[in-house]
Amino acid sequence: MIADMTMPTPSLHGFSRPVRRAKSAGSGSKARRAAAVLAGAVLLGAAVVVAPWRGALAQELDKGERVFKKCQACHSLDPAQQTDKGPALQGVFGRKAGTAPGFAYSEAMKAANIVWTEETLEAFLADSQGVVPGNTMNFSGLRKPEDRTAVIAYLREASK
Ligand code: HEC
Repeated sequence: MIADMTMPTPSLHGFSRPVRRAKSAGSGSKARRAAAVLAGAVLLGAAVVVAPWRGALAQELDKGERVFKKCQACHSLDPAQQTDKGPALQGVFGRKAGTAPGFAYSEAMKAANIVWTEETLEAFLADSQGVVPGNTMNFSGLRKPEDRTAVIAYLREASK
């Protein structure tokens, strides 16, 4: 208890609290509660600063994951699960078009002199036939710019 009253850093105390609480009975818990409230305030302060940024990114990734469901009919992120419907998209960033091992690309895709980046993916997903004429990706593309942005942000993380 004495240690509780004199603990100089409430945030540390707050972190260790659940373990200690399990062991100690209720009496004298006021000081601990006060320290926990302080620790909570410190953590809340940090969360308020970080949350808007974290929240926006998390939302974008969630949206991208939902959009990617459309792609999953043909694309996997795991090379071991690649089918003949579409090349695996793991490692797609920085990869030259038409070069995932083990996939039978069209001549058009193999000949396309494109390296996949945010910009080239954006253009391809908006108008795949415009960007790689004669490619065999049987998908009409993503009309909404926000869907393209979200799925590219998701791929950037999930394709690593
Ligand atoms: C109906 C199946 C199908 C769907 C749905 C589909 N794709 Fe494809 N995709 C393909 C095929 C097939 C190719 C290879 C085309 C070729 O060789 O001409 C391809 C190629 C690609 C490539 C080039 C890959 C490489 O290795 O060069 C990217 C990137 C890509 N698709 C992204 C997407 C994304 C993102 C979506 C969802 C928004 C999507 N595709 C939806 C079938 C599909």
